[in-house]
Parts: sequence; structure tokens; C-alpha cells
Amino acid sequence: MLDLWRGRWYKRAMQRETEIIQINAIEPEPAIIERAARLLCAGEMVVFPTETVYGLGANALDARASERIFAAKERPFSDPLISHIADESELELLVGEASEAAQKLAHAFWPGPLTLILPAGPRVPGLITAGLPSVAVRMPRHPVALALIRAAGFPIAAPSANRFMHVSPTTAQHAYTDLRGRVPLILDGGPCAVGVESTILDLCAAVPTILRPGGISLEELRSVLPETRPPAPRKARFEHEAQKAPGQMLIHYAPATPAFLFEGTPAAMRAAMLAEVVRRQQQGERVGVLVADEDIATFHESGACVYSLGSTPEQIATRLFAGLRVLEESGAQIILCRNFEERGLGMAIRDRLLKATGGRVIRVDG
Ligand code: TXA
Ligand code: MG
Repeated sequence: MLDLWRGRWYKRAMQRETEIIQINAIEPEPAIIERAARLLCAGEMVVFPTETVYGLGANALDARASERIFAAKERPFSDPLISHIADESELELLVGEASEAAQKLAHAFWPGPLTLILPAGPRVPGLITAGLPSVAVRMPRHPVALALIRAAGFPIAAPSANRFMHVSPTTAQHAYTDLRGRVPLILDGGPCAVGVESTILDLCAAVPTILRPGGISLEELRSVLPETRPPAPRKARFEHEAQKAPGQMLIHYAPATPAFLFEGTPAAMRAAMLAEVVRRQQQGERVGVLVADEDIATFHESGACVYSLGSTPEQIATRLFAGLRVLEESGAQIILCRNFEERGLGMAIRDRLLKATGGRVIRVDG
């Protein structure tokens, strides 16, 4: 299977021009939506913005259309896709029966950055679910995504529009960098507001369990389903076998440059990171640092390439993937990242930093 994906399909996916069209993110132009929907109806792929990250979409009910996604991303078939809907009535196309818990959560958080794992209905192609008996469903809240799903008239399967194992795209340009020549159309609706992917909640487990922290926090989920469990502690997994929680591979979102995550009080992190910058520069290395606004002064004259994520958790989430890409492209040979508090959105931020650093954590005492 993997050979097929790397070989024949991959070559076919490469032979195309990629057009980027700007689209109004608040009131999408109907003519542009129509054009994108026609491509989807013809079994093609379209990159479109969601409030979390850009998605690489195709008809979720058409196995041949969705197959193209795997080729374009170079994604193994063992990693299932999220199906995006625009209306709760579309759930019945994908899911056998929506439980009371599912309905409550949908009511509270859809449209929005929450993906529910539910028992798959008979119409869902096995390719979408990687053969699992469950299907991932989400209703995004970005006007372009909603308009596109409505115009297409079917649920849209869409993983993040990056190459497999790379950082997720939060701008059309990020998607273009990764998928240029592999997709016919990218809808550019500007930067994504949330910036980290949706929270994935497994409602097929005995107790609702977060598989991937994201745009909806554990605390928010517990306000509706108090029994919601946090994700299991992350373990390094590099193999491509079908997994209960695929996407849990530790280097899933990694930039090409090696990276380290510093943990400790802000003052201790700053001191240890600065010392590491100095040490590495003395060895002739170029260093990038991913920090917050409160850290900028420390690194101002350090010679490191500094990217600040801002100060609030919302800003940090929004800029995180862009920051990793900027530092990756800066020519830095190593990226040093600071950690953030794990509350609320912080759980998703820490999860992505752990993935980006491959779990290489340096603990420093305060
Ligand atoms: O915010 C998001 O969720 C974005 C936007 C485009 O909607 N999408 C996204 O898709 O992040 P992707 O493919 O990059 O990540 C989806 C994750 C994958 O790690 C996949 O393994 C997991 O969802 N997944 C899909 N179906 C599943 C299932 N039935 N059981 C467990 N995990 C599943
Ligand atoms: Mg992804």
C-alpha cells in the first residue's frame, strides 16, 4: 500500500498547476465558492480555510476523491480523516446514531473547533476511517468552510493542508509551500483565528476521552460533560500502523529543524535558553528562539533569531505554527522553544510544542 502511495499516485498528484484565489473570510464571494464546489463535485481537492488551520478537502463520501488527499499529503492510509459538515442534519450521512452526549456537545460547541469520534455509518468509505468502526466529524465555524460544504452538498473530508509530518498551515501561503503542484485550488481567506487544530474527543470510548487537545479546552468540555478525560500522556510513536489515536505520533507536526522545549519558571527558562544560545553560537551554530513578548528583551542582543508568539494563550496558539515555520526558514540549525502554562488552550499549545520538539524537553529549576 505504502509503495503505491509513494509511487504511481504521488506522481499523478504532482502534475498540476496550483491557483490561489483570495476570498472574503466574512462574506465569501458566491462565484468563488461555486467554482471551488464544482471542483469538489468533480472529485477534485480544494484547500480552504477553517478557524483552526487550513484543510485539504475532498468529497468524504467518495473514496476515489478522498484517496487523492493521501497522495497529495504523502499520508499513510492508516491515518483516518475528519469529515466536515455544515449542518447537524448531515450527521446522519456519516454516523449511525448520535448519542445524547454527542448532541449536547454539538449543541454547545458547533460550529467550532471540536471533532467528535462517533460510530461510523454504512455510507462512510473505509478509506476515511482507516478501517476503524468510528468516524471523526466536525462542523467548522469559518464562513468559507461552511459555504463550501453547503455548496458542495456533501461532507468534506479534510486533514490539515500540510505534507504529512510537517507543521500545520495557518495561512494559504503555508499550504502553498507544502502542496504546490499537488492541488488545483487554494482559497486564501487570510490567517486562521484559532491556529491550533480542533480538539478530538472520543465518544466511542467507555468514558469520553480527549485524543488530541485543541481549540476547545478540557475545562470547556467538562462544563457540558463533567466526566471528560484528558488525553493519555504522550508516548513517542514513530511507526505507521493503524492506531486507536492516530496523529499521536510524537513528531507529527515537526519543523524540519531540530527543536528543544524548555520547561520551568519563565525566569529560569529565559536564563537557560540564553545560556544555550550563547553556547551554541560559540560553536558557530545559528539558533532560533520561540518565545513570548515578556522574553523578547532577554534575547534582544543575543544574536539569536527571535520569534515572539505574543502574550495571551489565544495569541500564542494563533502564531505558534507560523513561528515554527518562520524559524525553520530562517536558516537556524536549532530551535529553542519556551513552554507555557497548561491550563485552557495551554494544553493544546504544550501538546504541539512537544510534537514539534519530538518530546525533547529540557527541565530547568526556578
Ligand atoms: O482542526 C482540525 O481538526 C483540522 C481542520 C482542517 O479541520 N483538521 C485536522 O485533520 O487537523 P488531521 O487529519 O490533520 O488530523 C485529524 C486527526 C488525525 O490525527 C486522525 O488520526 C484523527 O484525527 N482521526 C480521524 N478519524 C479518527 C478516528 N475514527 N478515531 C481516532 N482518531 C481519528
Ligand atoms: Mg494534520
